[in-house]
Amino acid sequence: MKRTIITFFVLVTLLFNAGAQNRLTIDATQKGPQISKYIYGHFAEHLGRCIYDGIWVGPDSPIPNINGYRKDVFEALKALNMPVLRWPGGCFADTYHWKDGIGPKEKRPKIKNVFWGGTVEDNSFGTHEFLNLCEMLGCDAYISANVGSGTVEEMTDWIEYMISEDDIEMANLRRQNGRDKAWKVKFIGIGNESWGCGGNMTPEYYSNLLRQYSGYVWEYARDKMIRVGCGSNGEDYNWTKVLMQNAARNMDALSLHYYTIAGPGWNNKTAATGFGEDLYFSGLKKGLRMEELVKTHSMLMDQYDPRKRVALYVDEWGIWTDVEPGTNPGHLFQQNSMRDALIASTSLDIFNRHAERVKMANIAQTVNVLQAMVLTQGAKMVLTPTYHVFNMYKVHGDAQLMPASLVSEKYTLGNESIPALSQTVSLDANGKIHLTLSNLNPNREIRLIAEVVGKTVSKVNSASCLTAPQSNSVNTFDNPETVKPAAFKAYRLLSTNQIEITLPSKSVVALELE
Ligand code: AHR
Repeated sequence: MKRTIITFFVLVTLLFNAGAQNRLTIDATQKGPQISKYIYGHFAEHLGRCIYDGIWVGPDSPIPNINGYRKDVFEALKALNMPVLRWPGGCFADTYHWKDGIGPKEKRPKIKNVFWGGTVEDNSFGTHEFLNLCEMLGCDAYISANVGSGTVEEMTDWIEYMISEDDIEMANLRRQNGRDKAWKVKFIGIGNESWGCGGNMTPEYYSNLLRQYSGYVWEYARDKMIRVGCGSNGEDYNWTKVLMQNAARNMDALSLHYYTIAGPGWNNKTAATGFGEDLYFSGLKKGLRMEELVKTHSMLMDQYDPRKRVALYVDEWGIWTDVEPGTNPGHLFQQNSMRDALIASTSLDIFNRHAERVKMANIAQTVNVLQAMVLTQGAKMVLTPTYHVFNMYKVHGDAQLMPASLVSEKYTLGNESIPALSQTVSLDANGKIHLTLSNLNPNREIRLIAEVVGKTVSKVNSASCLTAPQSNSVNTFDNPETVKPAAFKAYRLLSTNQIEITLPSKSVVALELE
């Protein structure tokens, strides 16, 4: 009997300690930077079935559409309050000649999409279709200009075509094509991956082009367009250094691309489904590398731009797996699991926590490509687990980051460990606190105490949780709701500033506190 009692107390103490080490201290006496809503941005390229089939089916399609835009996809994206959409690429952008995509559809030339499976592109989705979509979605447009195979003249003509109200040739051509009023285009990327598919340039060569091109953007779109310089590939810190050294004054933002590969490398990315805990763990671990990348690039930028005038835009990110069996390898169609939802939540947490420099991020890509929001098959559509994360996280957009320190237990597999918990806390314009928490451990729930210093919490207004039967669970066209958010009740107010939260294994939880 005595032994049983002792064992019981030892167990209770152990359990208490395991819980006690997980603590989130939120400092309401300090103000963090504003979390730019553009961190919740998106990217749609002419690649595979992202645009055609995904966003655009054309007005004559039997699939329900609004003037050619798929109705189901449009409505799903509209519900996300997408703040910005980047287009037309990606690698495609540096082969894109915008004049191919205007005017009567039957006269638009067909071209070969050289980077993405050699597919024939009929240009039926062009500037009008894209900018009208942005207006319908209520989001800002981010155009990627062609530097790799284009010219300054082609870019400035495009700018005039899109945003000029003057009585000049390009604006008149737009009017002739049925659009009287100029569109608003807030962001322009000057080249994409200029170190690779965008022209195989050295940073020295590209920085000269950036100075040249951005000078003309300035002349043609002064104060109307934010100029984004092409940034580095992952940890290519030299690229950032040279760009900042040579052209910090010639851009308003510098981009960064980083893709998570769960497998050993680009030649063995591994499948999006059916993986075991090893690939679950390595996917999360490699996703978390974003923190080091953002920190190091920001630190380098600080050396040349201590006032942080030049923002960092992570304008391509997400997990890149093998394509779904039987699909075109050049179309990058992949499934999306609970693991990927956690890669999304932890990456968004990283961007939020570095909101002083990271002012935009664009997950790749919106529909049917890489870590997509939605997948389509014929007339069917599913929302992915990543979609649900974006929906739960959108409350942070333009809210104030609340400084918070997290003490987290580790999630260990073999001899490797990562923090088991991840967080963002923000304060919105109405004084509500939004707390998003992820438990990366697929094997156990985690108890956490969240404490708000300097503000009382009287109630939890809402709480939801995204989890799944397995860490590799996906939503399919036959079972579209395997992974979806549900109401969350595993929390308890302990006092006016302390709340105990029990996070299910492999979950994302969102709470609104008042
Ligand atoms: O998102 C797919 C491709 O990844 C983009 O076209 C390119 O910019 C990157 O390499």
